Amino acid sequence: MSNDREQFASRIGFILAAAGSAVGLGNIWRFPYITGRYGGAAFVLFYLIVVAVIGMSLMLAEFAIGRSARQDAVGSMRKLGGGAWTFVGWMGAFSAFVILSYYAVIAGWALAYTIKSFTGLMTLVTTGDASGAVFSAFVSNVPQVLLYQAIVMAFCSYVVYMGISGGIERCCKVMLPSLFILLLLLIVRSVTLPGSGAGLSFYISPKLENLTREGMLAAIGQAFFSLSLAMGIMTVYGSYIPKGEYLPASVRWVVLIDTSIAILAGFVIFPAAFAFGIEPGTGVGLTFITLPVAFSQMPLGSLFCAAFFLLLFIAAFTSAISLLEVNVAYGIDQLGLTRKKSTMIMGALIFLLGIPSALSVGGHIPQIAGKDFLDVADYITNNIAMPLCGILITLFVGWFWTDGAKAEITDNGSLAFPLYKLWLWICRVIAPVAMAIIFIYGLKW
Ligand code: PHE
Repeated sequence: MSNDREQFASRIGFILAAAGSAVGLGNIWRFPYITGRYGGAAFVLFYLIVVAVIGMSLMLAEFAIGRSARQDAVGSMRKLGGGAWTFVGWMGAFSAFVILSYYAVIAGWALAYTIKSFTGLMTLVTTGDASGAVFSAFVSNVPQVLLYQAIVMAFCSYVVYMGISGGIERCCKVMLPSLFILLLLLIVRSVTLPGSGAGLSFYISPKLENLTREGMLAAIGQAFFSLSLAMGIMTVYGSYIPKGEYLPASVRWVVLIDTSIAILAGFVIFPAAFAFGIEPGTGVGLTFITLPVAFSQMPLGSLFCAAFFLLLFIAAFTSAISLLEVNVAYGIDQLGLTRKKSTMIMGALIFLLGIPSALSVGGHIPQIAGKDFLDVADYITNNIAMPLCGILITLFVGWFWTDGAKAEITDNGSLAFPLYKLWLWICRVIAPVAMAIIFIYGLKW
């Protein structure tokens, strides 16, 4: 069975597929706004350290687990660890399932805004209040929101149904370079706006006193989220990486792409925000409410607005296919379904679970303990399942599957891995402790 497993066709292809998963809403939207909230460049520096130390280590662990077991997330943990370790795979697949349900909703918003940019959005969002009203009206229009969510899920299912090299790899090879070009275009626009300098200096001059404990915790959480870790994704993608590929090098590339794009996104958001007098730490509303106002005030605004939301859509879409693949692989490996059946079933179930998230933002369904359904789904996955899963994976490779991991990474000793000892102790102690701290803090509702 493991012999005829699908594989990525090329090295660049799987790096772009994994990077496509990593580059998502977290880079374009979340990274800039939490950087704004937690004090700019000092936060970025700390984030880089976390990514280099913990993020890369965990990603390597996941790739190794997947490539060694050549199974979906659940099957991999069952095969290598057995017993209770299987639960780690379950948690990952569960998180991917839940996250995709609301991620597709937000990707749908981005798609809708891309189209709306050309159909008069710019004339409606000339002030913050007006833009807020447009956004609320949009998210409470149920048929419209569901339609876009359905389009995203259908398109996503199609790509996953086409398979690893013919679907996911091919799609990411086109989409990632396009994303990069859009990003460069927007950076040029943003940094040449009159008054953008204040935003630039806020972003690139570190003020260490701005870095708070809360900011540090946020940096750790952001690093996991942004690199798509602790969710079965890198395990499943790892299972399609050909043997003989040097995994640490692949990890370096994926992390480099993900981190550069997050940092570059800041060069779009901050100069534009400061140029139009927008508070950078304003959270979720920044993307869908305040940025359109900025676009509406510049020449060719509709074009740049469309470019921005298309960028956001592409980023979200390539992440969404990786989330779907985790569940589809489960259906294939564990339930014995064909790829076609598995994709249809998982795609439909995830769409159904997304409906309450889609409705909750428009206020159409009651809140749960004071939170929207979407926020509850986000809380359970990001604050509980992800850190737990991350802790268990690093402990697993650090203490239990140590020899297996080493053999997998070095291809039974034929490839050198000079940082092995360092990696091992990060997995054994540093990463689990860091994740345990964010887990405990994250339990606060
Ligand atoms: N890494 C993606 C981002 O930065 C989000 C994501 C998280 C995607 C988890 C898949 C899984 O937006």
